Order: sequence, then structure tokens, then C-alpha cells
Amino acid sequence: MKKNQERIQTIGLEDLSEGDTLIEVVYSSVNYKDMLAVQKKGGVIRSYPMIPGIDLAGRVVSSSDSTLSPGQEVLVTGYGMGMSHTGGFAQYARVPHEWVVPLPDDLTLKDAMVLGTAGLTAGLSIAALEEVGLKPEQSPRILVTGASGGVGSIALAILAASGYERVTALIRKDYQKELVTGLGAQKMIRPEDVFLKENPLLLKPQYDFVLDTVGGDVVAHLILQIAYNGDAV
Ligand SMILES: NC(=O)c1ccc[n+]([C@@H]2O[C@H](COP(=O)([O-])OP(=O)(O)OC[C@H]3O[C@@H](n4cnc5c(N)ncnc54)[C@H](OP(=O)(O)O)[C@@H]3O)[C@@H](O)[C@H]2O)c1
Repeated sequence: MKKNQERIQTIGLEDLSEGDTLIEVVYSSVNYKDMLAVQKKGGVIRSYPMIPGIDLAGRVVSSSDSTLSPGQEVLVTGYGMGMSHTGGFAQYARVPHEWVVPLPDDLTLKDAMVLGTAGLTAGLSIAALEEVGLKPEQSPRILVTGASGGVGSIALAILAASGYERVTALIRKDYQKELVTGLGAQKMIRPEDVFLKENPLLLKPQYDFVLDTVGGDVVAHLILQIAYNGDAV
């Protein structure tokens, strides 16, 4: 297999992937997928040449969609950007208008990309749990797995800012304690703590809601430890 070649290059708008909306990019973030994109066997980029960058925040230059006006601040994340569609590591991006999200009034372009796709994922996960009953007033017991990672750490910060006080972080290393307590976790557990040591029928539920970013055996055991009317995402 030939080695990937990365370079910064001046290209034209005509070299960007198809789309009815042209955006001047102000910020993008560096996601794990962007790191994989430049690896020899990363498996992320589907056709070459490609501009990486799986997300962006910027200003609309032009769009065939009447709800998007020139100068409007927007963000785009996912949808194959930086993988099969030219992405955010460029001055301009061209995308279908259906991918474009108007920037909320209280978020700056920079903050949108500081939070990045990991932050959006964390936010969507908490919104999904709130749709099925998670509420700060009920003081629910929440477990966040992969709490030191991109999605988990931002989830901890959002939960703390939203008034959730009984949050446990699942971590694997001692040095991660400071990070997760600083982000608002009250308790910490290790993966071995979730593996069942007793008959599952005798278990007491430990958590009302679980935000899992790890999967596999960890979540398989955790599902049995969720209280009635609780949920996991
Ligand atoms: N980041 C995004 O933009 C994004 C978007 C959508 C979906 N996702 C998905 O969300 C998941 C998490 O992504 P991420 O970006 O948060 O990853 P990440 O930054 O690499 O964090 C992964 C976390 O999971 C922990 N972990 C890994 N294997 C574990 C195991 N076997 N048992 C317990 N903990 C384990 C890691 O702990 P250590 O620090 O100890 O290794 C770390 O805390 C992935 O499946 C990813 O594909 C991510």
C-alpha cells in the first residue's frame, strides 16, 4: 500500500465536493476521526484527494435555501464531511443545505468548535435521556462511562452545569480522578466495579440513568443495574 501524502495546497472552489451552500470556514476541530484520516490504515477517507475536518463553524457565503442568508453563522458536523465529502480544514466548504445548522444565539463560532462533534454527541445523549425522564429535580443517580474521554468528559460538564448532583464517573486510571472530579463527578468507579459478582436476580439497582460511551461487556453488565423507569443511552 502506498503511503498517504498530506499537504497544504491552494485549490479552487470547484475542487470542493458538491452542495448548494457555500460556507466560509472560521473554525474546525481536530477529532479522533481526523487523526485516523491521516493514518495509512485509518479506514476513514473513502476517496482521494480529500480535505479532512469532520466539522466546521463559519458564515454562509451563498445558499439556494432561502432560510440561510449570507453572513449567517452556522455549523456543520458529520454527514461524511472529511471522509467522503471535502471537510472543514479549508477556508471554504460546500455542503447540502440540509446539513447546515444555524448557530444558537448564545454560542460563538469558536465555542461551537471547542465543544466540537464530541460535545454535540454528549449534548444529544443528555437530551435523549431527558426525553425519557431524566430531570435534575428528581436527583437521579447518573453514571457516565468513558468519563475521561472526549464525549464522557463534556457530558460530565454539561450534567454539572444542568444541576445534576449525583453523577458517578467510570474511569480506568488514577490520574483521571482529578479531571472527572473537576468536571463535577461526585463518585468514581472502575470497570471491575460494574462486573456482576452475584446472581443478577439479587442485584439492587445502582443507577437511574447511564450515559455509556464504552459499549461491550461494560454496558451489558450495567443494563442489569439500572433502576425501574431508568434508561441508558
Ligand atoms: N468524539 C466524537 O466526536 C464522537 C462522536 C460520535 C460518537 N462517538 C463515539 O463515542 C465513543 C467514545 O468516543 P470518545 O471520543 O469519547 O473517545 P475517547 O476520547 O477515546 O474516550 C474513550 C473513553 O472510554 C474509555 N474506555 C475505553 N475502553 C474502555 C473499556 N474497555 N472499559 C472502560 N473504559 C474504556 C477510555 O478510558 P481510558 O482513558 O482509560 O483509555 C476513555 O475514557 C466511541 O465509540 C466513539 O466512536 C464519538
